[in-house]
Amino acid sequence: MTSTANSSGRPLALVTGASAGIGRAYAERLASDGYDLVVVARRAERLDEVKHQLESRYGVSVQPLVADLSRESGRGAVDAVATQPRLEVVVDSAALAYYMPFLDLPRDQAEELVNLNVLAPVQMIHAALPGMVKRGKGTLVSFSSLLAFSAASENPQMPKRAVYAASKAFLLTFFQLLAIELRDTGVRVQIVCPGIVKTEFHTRQNMDLSGRPRLEPEEVVKASMIGLELGEVVCIPTLEETDRLQHHDHAEGEVLAANMRPTLAQRYLT
Ligand SMILES: NC(=O)c1ccc[n+]([C@@H]2O[C@H](COP(=O)([O-])OP(=O)(O)OC[C@H]3O[C@@H](n4cnc5c(N)ncnc54)[C@H](OP(=O)(O)O)[C@@H]3O)[C@@H](O)[C@H]2O)c1
Repeated sequence: MTSTANSSGRPLALVTGASAGIGRAYAERLASDGYDLVVVARRAERLDEVKHQLESRYGVSVQPLVADLSRESGRGAVDAVATQPRLEVVVDSAALAYYMPFLDLPRDQAEELVNLNVLAPVQMIHAALPGMVKRGKGTLVSFSSLLAFSAASENPQMPKRAVYAASKAFLLTFFQLLAIELRDTGVRVQIVCPGIVKTEFHTRQNMDLSGRPRLEPEEVVKASMIGLELGEVVCIPTLEETDRLQHHDHAEGEVLAANMRPTLAQRYLT
């Protein structure tokens, strides 16, 4: 990503989920591109490691922000950074899955999922966007998942995922519609939908996917960066035939367009 120097020397990027996985890899890539960083997660010692490594490798400034984004106080702390005038890039990578049948998902974990995966990015982007639009410059990246496309799949090998997959489908729709609203503002938005990536995401849930082919987090970041240059709003790092995505969007549009009428379908007319 090309950065623009300003009065304080370097542009600023805000990266959540930067203590591990894709967020950590994105933070490193942005540091190597000359961005100062605010890195957000709950584990302070991990963020300190990120700070020391990236500052010594790339000569940028890295500010750790320990915050639990599933809590109002944590989201408030991030808002304060999101409104800083030299903020150019926001990368939202913090998330959890809690794969299990919905009936087994404790209510507090269901709330945590929605707060972290949905409310946190919406609030952070709501805080960051007015300044970016005013400055005519900015980039917002968030991570959905291939599971955003899994609502109709009954594949028993897939994890039980109702709230997680729905949270990722929310982000997909949110970013696609934001992209339309923000056209011609100078602010770029991108939602990335990876398959399986080699991070702590699954081991956190005691899932061992080490036998499965997985992307490296750095490869996902590379796809995101190149996707931004290509103008991709939806970046699916492993998608070869991009017309599949166009067909998917087209099919959705047809359901919408064909049914915007004030008449009940025949089978409901008894
Ligand atoms: N890995 C995959 O296979 C995969 C596939 C599709 C999509 N994704 C998506 O990619 C994104 C990144 O995932 P990843 O694979 O990099 O996962 P990861 O290795 O588990 O990293 C998740 C990050 O989120 C942070 N985090 C978790 N809960 C938090 C909270 N309450 N407040 C603040 N930070 C929190 C974690 O740090 P702390 O624990 O220190 O807070 C960590 O830095 C997520 O949106 C995920 O849904 C991942």
